[in-house]
Amino acid sequence: LSTQDVRAYYDSFGEREWARLEDPSDGAVEFAVTCHALDTYLPTGARVLDLGGGPGRYSLWLAERGHRVVLADISPTLLDIARTKVAQSNSGGLVETIVEVDARDLSRWSDDAFDAALALGPFYHLLDPLDRERAAAELVRVLRPGGVAFVALMPRYAFLRRTLAVADERRHLKDPVFVERVLEEGTFVNDVPGRFTAGYGVRPEDVAPFFEGHGLATHALLACEGIVPDLQEDLAETMRDDPAAYRQVLDVVLRTASDPSILGMSAHLLYVGRKQLESNGITE
Ligand SMILES: C[S@@+](CC[C@H](N)C(=O)[O-])C[C@H]1O[C@@H](n2cnc3c(N)ncnc32)[C@H](O)[C@@H]1O
Repeated sequence: LSTQDVRAYYDSFGEREWARLEDPSDGAVEFAVTCHALDTYLPTGARVLDLGGGPGRYSLWLAERGHRVVLADISPTLLDIARTKVAQSNSGGLVETIVEVDARDLSRWSDDAFDAALALGPFYHLLDPLDRERAAAELVRVLRPGGVAFVALMPRYAFLRRTLAVADERRHLKDPVFVERVLEEGTFVNDVPGRFTAGYGVRPEDVAPFFEGHGLATHALLACEGIVPDLQEDLAETMRDDPAAYRQVLDVVLRTASDPSILGMSAHLLYVGRKQLESNGITE
């Protein structure tokens, strides 16, 4: 997979990528879980790298809370949308830079440049293990000691479930090579034009050791869709018809998001880890 495929896929997304996080039939639960983690683990007044930040939904959320933000992504189209959204926002002044960058090469920033870094997108598009190693090393390098990383991942079962859910992709499930590659390597490759191009799926139990090997101490691994993956339509109906019940569901999702028994069945995972202090290896 080349970065061009990923770029072209997200370029084609446009405004949809901005809208999905406020849509209860799409990414609203993922947004709630992620923002709750950001609220919990971010220091006040942080300088934050939003890597793979796309159209800037999280960058602006952070700016509205007084953080300084650098937004980086490989999709020029999504970055253009971000520029417009930032210009329209009262808090846009706190978005320092919006720049085209590949997560595998953060050389434009020095070591220790950020108090926190989000990578909500790049890691599940890196199929080559060496690319994932490079991206993790770069992410940790630009964090100051004690700085916090928030990384989105996809569990490998999510790729099989979405293949079943999409009528003209379902035929892939008959192909034993396709299934084996997802289950054994975590590699998902899609030959249907215009769709989720290709991805890497994790085993939840491998996530913390991977990032700990790059110098992070683990705070949390969360199921972004919690106990409600694939129930988005029911959630949207509940939000419309019974907002109190909807709020209750969200509360349960937040309380149970780190339950190991649900991690592998989520569509996305969020890893939170803190860069170890170099001198003594302990966290702040
Ligand atoms: C699903 S979108 C998420 C966008 C945003 N973080 C959000 O949650 O709304 C994934 C993003 O990761 C970006 N991306 C994928 N691979 C990348 C890479 N190697 N370097 C930088 N950005 C990348 C895509 O262009 C896209 O904007």
